[in-house]
Amino acid sequence: MEFDITAYKARTDRLRWGDLDLEAFREQPLPEWSLRCLRYMHDVEFHTACYLRDLLVTQAHADPEVTAFLSFWVYEEFWHGEALAAVLEAHGEAAGADRVGPMRGRLGAREKLRPIGMAAASWAIGADFVAVHMAWGAVNEWTTQAGYAQLAQRSAHPVLSALVGRIMRQEGRHIDFYASQAERRLAASLRAQRLTRFALRRLWAPVGSGVMPPAETAHLARALFSGPDGLGVARRIDRRVDRLPGLAGLGLVEGALSARHGEMGECRRADVPMALTA
Ligand SMILES: [Fe+2]
Ligand SMILES: [Fe+2]
Repeated sequence: MEFDITAYKARTDRLRWGDLDLEAFREQPLPEWSLRCLRYMHDVEFHTACYLRDLLVTQAHADPEVTAFLSFWVYEEFWHGEALAAVLEAHGEAAGADRVGPMRGRLGAREKLRPIGMAAASWAIGADFVAVHMAWGAVNEWTTQAGYAQLAQRSAHPVLSALVGRIMRQEGRHIDFYASQAERRLAASLRAQRLTRFALRRLWAPVGSGVMPPAETAHLARALFSGPDGLGVARRIDRRVDRLPGLAGLGLVEGALSARHGEMGECRRADVPMALTA
């Protein structure tokens, strides 16, 4: 699996949705459980700039192919946030800077200190630290794309499905980059495999869970990944992780979902349609 950065640079673009009738949401609004997922996704898409901050203080910044990709990745993710903001605004909800500013203001010292920890870990570990990031990025992009697919399917709203389909195509290219980088870097170093395995098993958590309240992550897990089909999606992602060199048998996504389902005490069951609470 090789990623063609030249083709990606030629193809990258901001997401466009001017041809979609977002006014349809006023006639046919999304249910509250779906909007709650969208708020989470909106906030996390906009947080990509902060994830980039954490990446650029590591050895990753020394690799021109990685920095080329990251330059467009952060741009594309920004427009995913803008697209979701447009959906929230069509429902009369606050979005964009009105949500992102207060959300960043709520983040604690751990988030503020993260770049220092990342820089120190990268300095101590060396180039193999980049492999950890690339595998981590692959898992996050796989789960993000799957989350969008589940949201579109379960919300069954034609305008949302069209918009989310466009986002998913770009997430697919992000997957291709991170997975190809992870595969190459892990295949080249047993030490990178051991480090990545350790970091994912001990530290990985669903994307956004480090900056969003636990009840919101639990809601997302239940609303999008509950039931047999949700479990099937989680296991499919775990099988993809299994195929990366040295990462077989981690069961990350299934394990994280069962942990989040267990936290539903904080999240009212009534928030999610009964059909989703299998
Ligand atoms: Fe995105
Ligand atoms: Fe992405």
